[in-house]
Amino acid sequence: MGTVLDAEFVKGFIRMCNDGWEQGWHERNGGNVSYYLTEADVEEVRDGLNFEGEWKPIGTEVPTLAGGFFLVTGSGKYLRNVILNPEDSIGLIQLDETGKDYRIVWGFTGGGRPTSELPTHLMNHEVKQKLTKGRNRVIYHAHTPNVIALTYVLPLTDEVFTRELWEMATECPVVFPQGVGVVEWMVPGGREIAVATSKLMEKYNVAIWAHHGMFCSGADFDETFGLMHTVEKAAEILVKMRSICPEKRQTITPDQFRELAKAFGVELPERFLYEK
Ligand code: 13P
Ligand code: ZN
Repeated sequence: MGTVLDAEFVKGFIRMCNDGWEQGWHERNGGNVSYYLTEADVEEVRDGLNFEGEWKPIGTEVPTLAGGFFLVTGSGKYLRNVILNPEDSIGLIQLDETGKDYRIVWGFTGGGRPTSELPTHLMNHEVKQKLTKGRNRVIYHAHTPNVIALTYVLPLTDEVFTRELWEMATECPVVFPQGVGVVEWMVPGGREIAVATSKLMEKYNVAIWAHHGMFCSGADFDETFGLMHTVEKAAEILVKMRSICPEKRQTITPDQFRELAKAFGVELPERFLYEK
């Protein structure tokens, strides 16, 4: 049995933090990541955990995740430093039997604590745990510049964001057929924004925070990073397109989306295929 840092899920977590940094999504301490450990993950690292930590409030309640273990980035930690000093920048936490408190069982060696967005991460995990029966284990928050820019110019509705992003790349409706949700500007870091975001996570794997960034959910690091990357790239194309010319000369039509849905075996909700 190796150390916590030898576990594949920890290596994958660290790589994703660094990939996001290299994309330019994590200025300073911007963005945060959480991974919900499987029972096998917990057994793999159990010998390296310390269960003496003090219980502290999560800031919300997640009863269905009671007793669960999560690998999370630290509040105020720079994602660019995760690869250099993971023990200080990230930590493993365990939830108590009520789902109201957590304790640190590994990491945060310099006295750190979990991300200020822990309520949103855990409430999103709770929704995904119920809906995907434990398939989706990663929640990722990034400050993606093109998506943020669009929240100043597009109406803040799920319908418009989904449709405009889908039109920017043929792969988009295949990668996120459920669409994307949008949260209007709210104070970050608390229960209120966590409730609003987790409500959207009941329908989508992407929630956009107006004038702030994005949350994505996926089964593993590849899928979650790939989703964030696909949505942000579509936003980048829309920003480029609008910079060249405010109107599209041609685009993918609702009927073409329906053809695509048939060919790729995905269901595209009709509410996104409105006539313009
Ligand atoms: P943390 O440093 O607490 O993770 O906060 C960063 C952030 O992006 C808040 O939304
Ligand atoms: Zn943020």
